[in-house]
Amino acid sequence: MPGVRPLRFEDPPSRGAGGALLVLDQRALPDEERWLRCERVEEVADAIRSMAVRGAPAIGLAAAYGLALAAAAEVPFEEAASLLIATRPTAANLGWAIERARAADGDLLGLARALEAEQLEADRRLSALGAERMGRRERVLTHCNAGPLATGGYGTAGGVIRAAWEQGRLDQVWVDETRPLLQGSRLTAWELDRLGIPYRVVADSAAASLMGRGLVDRVVVGADRIAANGDVANKVGTYPLAVMAERHDVPFHVAAPLSTIDPGTPTGADIPIEERDPSELVTDRPALNPAFDVTPAELVGAIFTEAGVLEPPYDNSIARALGR
Ligand code: MRU
Repeated sequence: MPGVRPLRFEDPPSRGAGGALLVLDQRALPDEERWLRCERVEEVADAIRSMAVRGAPAIGLAAAYGLALAAAAEVPFEEAASLLIATRPTAANLGWAIERARAADGDLLGLARALEAEQLEADRRLSALGAERMGRRERVLTHCNAGPLATGGYGTAGGVIRAAWEQGRLDQVWVDETRPLLQGSRLTAWELDRLGIPYRVVADSAAASLMGRGLVDRVVVGADRIAANGDVANKVGTYPLAVMAERHDVPFHVAAPLSTIDPGTPTGADIPIEERDPSELVTDRPALNPAFDVTPAELVGAIFTEAGVLEPPYDNSIARALGR
């Protein structure tokens, strides 16, 4: 998508200096395109924690650039890694990127750039595979934002939607508003506007009746962490969509790179679910604000990855895709 990049790395003016990670502040979208300048790993951690950068793959890339900044400033690797890993507990890509950096020999900036290129490649491949599964002129419902803003590449669920549009397989998108931070009505709608893809925003609670009226052909969502058995953590409100999709015989599909699959997490019950500040919901009443929910594998029709379309039983297909 022309111009949509959540992260840009600005090279240092001289060798040995650290450079800066520029973060498109997604809290200000769509009203304002504001860039945050992070020169220190602490600033990158703040940008992730506060959701200036969000979406599991983009969080992983930001962390990789943060580790490169830490290395240039001679901050010990483990100190920087523990600062970053504590920012958001659910996204598997965060720990995955840190492990890739731990295993790398030296050039962490080169690694961060390589991970960004890999993400774009994975997004394109899984998006093409997902789009191939679609019929003609489908009405697709999606939740949260899983486009380029969320991945630093082409998008996962957003990438499937874009590829399907380019192939004439998409009629329009139902964009779940996505309470409470409105990633759907603010971010997904902003991306779709730029691509000229027709959409309508709906309240999250409208999905059941849309399905009941026969207005949804497929649900496609992204993921924050997929357990070894295929249980999927994604933005809170995803699980009810999967339940409703089954009730109405609507295909429910997940699009995610392999870096979102965590073989070290056996089932959804083992996925840490981030609870955010209740003030994101209400400021004058007691509240609970889980940011994610877990959709059981039995409700997931297929998972589009760069290594192919995974189908149940997921413990087998996931192990094969990860080469285990
Ligand atoms: O809290 P967020 O906005 O980081 O949550 C993002 C999501 O739930 C996305 O669906 C997920 O990270 C996949 S992004 C390709």
